[in-house]
Amino acid sequence: MAGHGVLTAQTVEDCIVEQGWERYTAEEHAIWRVLFERQQKTLKSHVCQEFLDGLVALGIGPEGVPKFERMNERLRALTGWEVVAVPGLVPGRPFFQMLASRRFPAGTFIRSRAQLDYLEEPDIFHDIFGHVPLLTNPAYADYMQEYGRIGLDAIEHKGVKFLSRLNWYTIEFGLIRKPQGIRIYGAGIVSSFGEAQYVTGDPSANQLAFDLDRVLRTGYYIDDFQATYFVIDRFEDLFELLKETDFIAKFDELRALPAHTPFEILPEDDVIRVGTGQFWRDFPATKAKLK
Ligand SMILES: [Fe+2]
Repeated sequence: MAGHGVLTAQTVEDCIVEQGWERYTAEEHAIWRVLFERQQKTLKSHVCQEFLDGLVALGIGPEGVPKFERMNERLRALTGWEVVAVPGLVPGRPFFQMLASRRFPAGTFIRSRAQLDYLEEPDIFHDIFGHVPLLTNPAYADYMQEYGRIGLDAIEHKGVKFLSRLNWYTIEFGLIRKPQGIRIYGAGIVSSFGEAQYVTGDPSANQLAFDLDRVLRTGYYIDDFQATYFVIDRFEDLFELLKETDFIAKFDELRALPAHTPFEILPEDDVIRVGTGQFWRDFPATKAKLK
């Protein structure tokens, strides 16, 4: 989630730094505005209402890089979450501990103008604009905390790979079905100009109804748009699923089974849309390892 190098620190407190808001330059605030306005236009009616409500509730707007302190006053009052600044990728254990205690780690650096469209490591625009608005939603806020708690179990019980897939297909690239149609909620789509356009305007990708085991068994490639998106109906469903699942037993069970690629549709899938596959037709031979 948060980017810029990997920290070696092992405790939560070692990972947290000051945001240093006064150090952002006029150019950095201007880049925030460009990113914000462009995404606002692209996402329009395609993003879920909970996300838009979250932006308003937290006062996240185009004016410039948000000040964590001010945003946190509102966020704490709504769901008890807060954003903490970190200087790089937080290692697994403190990362999950932060989520389990309702602290969301966010990078403080912002991409340059040359990197508006593609960024290897998540920056403050991804972390704040992408992830934080939904933390104002009580059900989503509970889900993220529970995800952190299970993450700590996953470290002890060889399950981190499975939780990474859950993170990928919900928190980063999730879609939600609303009466008005399919809407975006995943931070990786919300904060990406290219993938937001792909999701809203390109028929290539499959859309499958979310199924926990299916998602935990489906690998992903980190360097391209998704071939399959999983669609939930309610944030409450995600939280309840985590609550009622014995993940330690599930990790044991899943380790013995092969992973699916993101290109497959299985006979038991609840298919919402079969993609044309056009976008990723030439994909498999050239790409990196399946996660
Ligand atoms: Fe992220």
